[in-house]
Amino acid sequence: MGLSPRALPDFPWDSLAPYRARAAAHPDGLVDLSVGTPVDPTPTVIREALAAASDAHGYPTTHGTADLREAVAGWFARRRGAPGVDPMAVLPTVGSKELVATLPAYLGLGEGDVVVHPRAAYPTYDVGARLAGATPLATDDVDDWRGNPAVRLVWVNSPSNPTGAVAPAEHLAEVVAAAREIGALVASDECYAELAWTDVPVPSILDPRVCGGSHDGVLAVYSMSKQSNLAGYRAAFVAGDPAVVAGLLEVRKHAGLIVPAPVQAAMAVALRDDAHVAEQKERYRARRAMLLPAVEAAGFRVERSEAGLYLWATRDEDCWDTLSYLADRGILAAPGAFYGEAARRHVRIALTASDAGVSSASSRLAKRE
Ligand SMILES: Cc1ncc(COP(=O)(O)O)c(C=O)c1O
Repeated sequence: MGLSPRALPDFPWDSLAPYRARAAAHPDGLVDLSVGTPVDPTPTVIREALAAASDAHGYPTTHGTADLREAVAGWFARRRGAPGVDPMAVLPTVGSKELVATLPAYLGLGEGDVVVHPRAAYPTYDVGARLAGATPLATDDVDDWRGNPAVRLVWVNSPSNPTGAVAPAEHLAEVVAAAREIGALVASDECYAELAWTDVPVPSILDPRVCGGSHDGVLAVYSMSKQSNLAGYRAAFVAGDPAVVAGLLEVRKHAGLIVPAPVQAAMAVALRDDAHVAEQKERYRARRAMLLPAVEAAGFRVERSEAGLYLWATRDEDCWDTLSYLADRGILAAPGAFYGEAARRHVRIALTASDAGVSSASSRLAKRE
């Protein structure tokens, strides 16, 4: 027929199968620390909101209810140091992965356009650029693209998946200034913002210290999957540049990309309830406090990991060798190679396992051969 989807890299997680099988053969079973999927229950307050909104006979609004968009604006002001978010410039998305993968195409990017993303990065930034036919550029150095008019979109991700690095406001402000000079959009993926492990603040792209109080040319992308154990609801949103959000809303209305009404209602309730986020953060803090010393005692060096759900660790060897070492202890981690060439000598160890799983992994790592 001559029709084929755009060429994409092999789906990386499939290559983990042999390591998973090896780890599963451990007499005490597999501890899967490879993916960042939440394992704790969705908080009751959110489930009740979902249930209360379950009569959803009519089509939901693509733009999101006014109540949800006001909850998002209030949350940015209260939790992210970003007052002045216009509820009109807020748009719910079906989780944030679909937005990350489609944003370049929906912005009309294509051949000859460049999409910048971090060197060690969540792979979907690269995938989204390729789906649009644009060219991805992996760099953390603004000087690699400063003044280049081919650059149309710049992704930043702080706290970072996979490294857990937090970008200071000054760095983000430099990115915004350089992007504005060439008329590029900065999209900031911030889904680990509530999970900071140091006192260092985690500024949003919509923080006035970063964007200068204007949302022109900037977009914050946020997922509720991690902070509220909502990965199964597909609950996320974007906010920022009013013209860009209006354009995305038009495309998404045509394409039928709508967050289900009960999920919109649940999101609004979740965004107004800080208590469940604090409770969940304490669970991860305890798991991190158990796992981090065990990983270090096993001879790993843990770098960055200032925030987020992962330990970014290296034994100064190829990541696949480290994966074998861990698999022999019944532990599955994610190889740095999934996140770019720059990350080949690291592994990403997730905190998203039950207390029992994290405790078991920690004692296996502590055991001397
Ligand atoms: C950096 C980053 N962005 C986006 C996502 C996607 O989140 P979701 O699609 O669950 O909203 C993830 C999930 O792991 C992530 O790590």
